[in-house]
Formats: sequence, structure tokens, C-alpha cells
Amino acid sequence: MKKATDQILVIFGASGDLTQRKLLPAILELERHKLLPEKFALLGVGRTPLNDETFRKRFLEFDKESLEGNERIEDSFLSKLFYTSIDTGKESDYEKLKSRLDGMSDDLGIAQNYLFYLATPPKLYFTIPTFLAAHGLLQGSKGELRRLIIEKPFGFDLPSAVELNAHLAKFLNEDQIYRIDHYRGKETVQNLLVTRFANGIFEPLWNRNFIDHVEITSSESLGVEGRGGYYDSSGALRDMVQNHLLQVAGLVAMEPPSSLNAEAIRNETVKVFESLRPIAVQDVAKNVIRGQYTASTVRGKAVPGYRDENGVADDSRTETYVALKFFIDNWRWGGVPFYIRSGKRLPTKVTEVVISFKSTPHHLFTGEQFGRGRSCCSVSEGCTCNQLILRIQPDEGVVLKFAMKRPGAGMEVKTVDMNFRYADLGDVYAPGAYERLLHDAMRGDAMLYGRADAVELCWRFVEPILEAWQSEPETALYGYPAGTWGPSVADDLIEGERNAWRYPCKNLVNDGEFCEL
Ligand code: BG6
Repeated sequence: MKKATDQILVIFGASGDLTQRKLLPAILELERHKLLPEKFALLGVGRTPLNDETFRKRFLEFDKESLEGNERIEDSFLSKLFYTSIDTGKESDYEKLKSRLDGMSDDLGIAQNYLFYLATPPKLYFTIPTFLAAHGLLQGSKGELRRLIIEKPFGFDLPSAVELNAHLAKFLNEDQIYRIDHYRGKETVQNLLVTRFANGIFEPLWNRNFIDHVEITSSESLGVEGRGGYYDSSGALRDMVQNHLLQVAGLVAMEPPSSLNAEAIRNETVKVFESLRPIAVQDVAKNVIRGQYTASTVRGKAVPGYRDENGVADDSRTETYVALKFFIDNWRWGGVPFYIRSGKRLPTKVTEVVISFKSTPHHLFTGEQFGRGRSCCSVSEGCTCNQLILRIQPDEGVVLKFAMKRPGAGMEVKTVDMNFRYADLGDVYAPGAYERLLHDAMRGDAMLYGRADAVELCWRFVEPILEAWQSEPETALYGYPAGTWGPSVADDLIEGERNAWRYPCKNLVNDGEFCEL
């Protein structure tokens, strides 16, 4: 693997939550696994008046509280952390940043290769690059690297995403821009590529001839957790579907890439996004269900409704749950429905892809199969016995459900599991999403990052849904009690007696026997 060139990582928003909870711990892990460049420094930038020492101290204190079980952070790591306080909204302050970077580069003997990370509120995504460019910080001379990582949300809708792309393009080439989507950094999401393209047995079946439908579920048991202000202007469609879950759909549906090169893979996922059949505004109510959680008691604990959360309007119509049905109009997927479902305050936290294969053309046997409640679908009616479940989290792994004879008299069948669980690999180290993505950006590998066209196409797909909800605010918003699987009307999206959403348990295997939530 190509080692990253010596560089300085500059994090804007360094005193914020994301930096403390995700970025610094990820860099620390990279250090511990000897994956940082030989010469490396991290410069935190923000308005909060901190200095190198107080910045390091804050991380040490955070570490004590949160990074349980880890031994104390090594001094050698702390000595790589620096901090400069500037008013990021004031152009003249960037002179101070520039001289700090020049000084660090001289003192530490690190070439002026800079990786900028915007972990700030999105309104600064315009300001910061403009001011960095004004001070010559986005274009290196003599082959010096200048790259920019941008956190989500990348835009608020299609026009704002297009505008942001156009703005960045004034100062940076596309290959300098790294739009982060932490889902693509997950091991199990990358494993979608390996499952599909390193195994000869799945690919021949991976099309409309053998697949009945595809489900992507991402459920969370937590609510908005103090992020009510942000979430209320976002909602589940923007927060999870436009980015994370459409990216997952892109990997499930893409054609085999010609190589593992970033452009080859991104070209194929872009073709999927280009083939998404637009949902017309007038069809939104039929194909998209939105919901909002209401107060309830979950496992004996009172849980507030969404409208009672801090920062949320009393009459909010923001969806905390969304389920949609859509099609990918190309040769591989013509006529195969795809379903995405995501929500907060559902019974458990699970993300998985379920590929449901077609049933046998002639139904010889009787017996009960999984389905709603995991055992309501009858084989004699043509229920599909075969599902491939690609579990993204938790209990990461892959399960193939297939039929076998129930021992005893007669010829009844029962569904059993053939499985692989990551846990069975023992203590193999799996890097976290941010760790993997930061390491890739340091090495200049954009394979797991979003390209401008992909981000815009995903916005283009969700745009009519947003438009329908905005122009028809009375479009049904179904309440669902916290701790349940969302509005029951979402069941109607998956039509037909033989089909139903899969209701996942935390445990991936043997979920017909016990279900941990
Ligand atoms: C974030 C969303 O992007 O992803 C959050 O803003 C959501 O609302 C989170 O909770 C889910 O990520 P993960 O990795 O916990 O599934």
C-alpha cells in the first residue's frame, strides 16, 4: 500500500463534537497502527480560544471519559497536535493561519502539504475555501499537495449542492475535493464490493431474472440526541437517504468496475444514480411514507416524542422515519423494486441490505417461512426461501437463508441460515470508518469519497420528494410510538402477500429462534 506523503492535517471546527468524538480518536488509531505519514502534524483551527496545550489537554480529558479500555494517549501522539484560534469568518485572520502553517512546516521539517478538513457548520463551506484560496493555501507550488475534505451535509437540496460544487470548482480541481460519507468508510459497506465481485457464484444471479426485490434498512433506536436544531431542518430523507443509503444502493446495484481504481468504481455508481427512475411529485404519496415518533414507554422508560425534543418546533412536520420504493431503469434491474427504510426511535439499531431472490416456479412443499414476525409466510403459496442478508451493523456478517427439510414425517420445509460473522474472525483489527477515510485522503485515494456528479444525482433523485412535501405540507406524516417499527402503512409499500419487510434483530443468525433488540 502506498504510504501517505508527509503532511499537515488542518481541521476547522477543531473544538467541536465531531473532532473530539470521531476525528482525533481516528488519527490516534492511525498513529497506533503506524499508518500516519512519517512526518505528520495536526493543526486544529477554530474560534474557541485554545492553544496547543489546552487543545491537547481537552483531548486527554475526553479520552479519559470516553475511550474506555485504551491505555493512556502516548505523549508522542499529543506532541503532534497543535491549535490556532482564528475567526474563520474573517479573511484577514487567514494570514495568521498561513504564518502558523509556514512556521510549523519549518520547525517540524514537514513539506507544505496540507489536508484541510471542514468539520464546521455548513454555512462555512463557502467562506473557508474562499479565504484559504485568497491566501494561496489551496494551490501548492512545486508539487505540494493541497486537498480538502468536506463533511456532510453537502448541500441542503439540489440547487445548493450544485452551487457548492461550482463554488469549490473555482479554487480546486475535482481530484483535490474529498466529500466524506462515513458509510462508505465502513468495512461492511466495502465488503459489498468483495462479496459481489470476488465470488463467482453471486454475480450470475444478481439481476432481474433471479432477484425479486432489494431492501435497505437502517434503523436507529436513539432519537435526535441533542441535535434537534440541526435535525429539524433536515429530516430522515436528507440525513440518511440522500447520502448514506443511496450510496449503499449504488454499491449493491452497480456493474462490475473495470478495476479497483477510484474513477472506475465511481463511474459505475454514477451510472446507477443516472438510472434511478425519478419519482414524480404526484406519485410521492404513493411511493414514499414519512413518519414522526411520538412519546412512548420503551422497555419501561418514558421516551419523549420528537416534538418535545430540544430545538424542535412544537408543530414540526419533519420526518424522523422514511420508507420509499423506487426502481433502477437499466438492463440489470428493470422491474425490480428497491426499498429503503430509515428511522429514529425504532426498536433496535441495525443497518442491512436484504436481497430477496425469486421463489421457485412450482411450489412442491409446505411449511412456514420467515416473513413478518419471521414465520408467517407459507411455502405452498410461493414464499421466497432465499434471502441474502448483508449486515452492515451490528453483528456484522453475511447470511444466506435457504430451505431444508424439517426432520420427521412428511416433506415440510423450514428456512435455515448459512452464515459468516465478522466476530468469528477473532481479534482481527477492523478500522473504524473515519480512520479508513482519513487514511485514504492522506494517501490521495478518493475511491470511497463522493464525486461532484454523484452527489448532485442523489440530490436530483430526492428533490421531487422534498418538493412534494414542501408544496403539499398536508401530505400525510404518520405518527409512530417511539420503540416501534414506524408507521404500519409502510408495509403497504411492499405489496403482495408473499412479501414483507424483514424486521431485523440485533443478532444476525437464528433470528427465527430468538430476537435481541
Ligand atoms: C449521520 C446522521 O450521518 O449518521 C445521524 O447525521 C445518524 O443522524 C448517523 O445517526 C448514523 O450513523 P451510524 O454510523 O451510527 O449508522
